[in-house]
Amino acid sequence: MKVTVIGAGNVGATCANVIAEKDFVNKVVLLDIKEGVAEGKALDIWETAPINEYSTRVNGYTNDYTQTKNSEVVVITSGLPRKPGMSRDDLIATNAGIVRSVTEQVIKYSPDAKIIVVSNPLDVMTYCAYLTAKVDSNRVFGMAGVLDTARYRAFIASELNISPRDIQAMLLGGHGDTMVPLPRYTTVSGIPVTELIPADRLNAIIDRAKNGGGEIVNLLGTSAWYAPGAAAAQMVESIVKNENRIFPCCALLNGQYGMKDIYLGVPVKLGKNGIEQIIELKLNEGEMELLNASAKAVRGVMDVLDKQLAAASTK
Ligand code: NAI
Ligand code: 2OP
Repeated sequence: MKVTVIGAGNVGATCANVIAEKDFVNKVVLLDIKEGVAEGKALDIWETAPINEYSTRVNGYTNDYTQTKNSEVVVITSGLPRKPGMSRDDLIATNAGIVRSVTEQVIKYSPDAKIIVVSNPLDVMTYCAYLTAKVDSNRVFGMAGVLDTARYRAFIASELNISPRDIQAMLLGGHGDTMVPLPRYTTVSGIPVTELIPADRLNAIIDRAKNGGGEIVNLLGTSAWYAPGAAAAQMVESIVKNENRIFPCCALLNGQYGMKDIYLGVPVKLGKNGIEQIIELKLNEGEMELLNASAKAVRGVMDVLDKQLAAASTK
């Protein structure tokens, strides 16, 4: 069983490392466009195998997609982070170009693969991969909610001085500051979080989770990779082991939550076919308003991509 990670940068290399350490596939292929980077990082990861005691073979390649042939799951992390002076539209155009060319190669060599997109802007890059792959939407989805809920759960664990393992949480919407953490669906060993944390403190935690990506960028000058890499690896594990775990993932909606033709974060069941089911929560009015606002923000970015694609096709 083979899993491929495209992009051997911070997130991609971390994801490959976590998958290898968990030892649930025979082979991880790491691929990058920059000469030697994937080879070097894969070799470094493989050299941890005797220490960390796993068997998963990790190999790196420079742009050689023949090595990705028949991958069960492909994680796409290739893409630039936004740089000073770069407009949001520039970032969309650049990363869409990368995601498109990568997806074409991925599908050519692994026509049955499940594709997990990580590149930003997440919801729209997932949409871009879907348009390119031309496969059923249950096989093309994005990683954001696993990371965003992990941040939310980590902050709750710090607040209560408890193990994060006991915290269950759900979150909806786009990957950005319009995401919608759901306190009504957050529990600590079955106890509603609202019984343990006063509303003002919980609201502060929710705000921090919404801005969790920015908090790391402000500290490091670049975006996070440990938690994003681990989050994508957890999704891969649920698919490869057919675990049917329920995670918030960026999925194409087809009427759920009253929306169509939009990629948005919702709870899904992840198994051997990718998205086995989208779970529709019964939201109250306030939650639905927040989700609609998030969808509006995502649609705005999808429109930018659609216009760029239309302009490119008339050239
Ligand atoms: P990075 O700059 O460390 O790595 C990106 C890698 O992609 C580089 O090694 C680059 O050479 C490679 N690449 C570029 N074009 C390529 C192509 N055509 N084919 C193959 N490889 C190519 O960036 P990092 O930190 O790993 O982030 C990657 C992406 O993930 C960014 O777009 C970032 O914004 C996004 N991200 C998304 C998160 C999420 O929650 N969805 C969380 C964290 C990062
Ligand atoms: C994050 O949330 C920037 O999407 C990236 O860390």
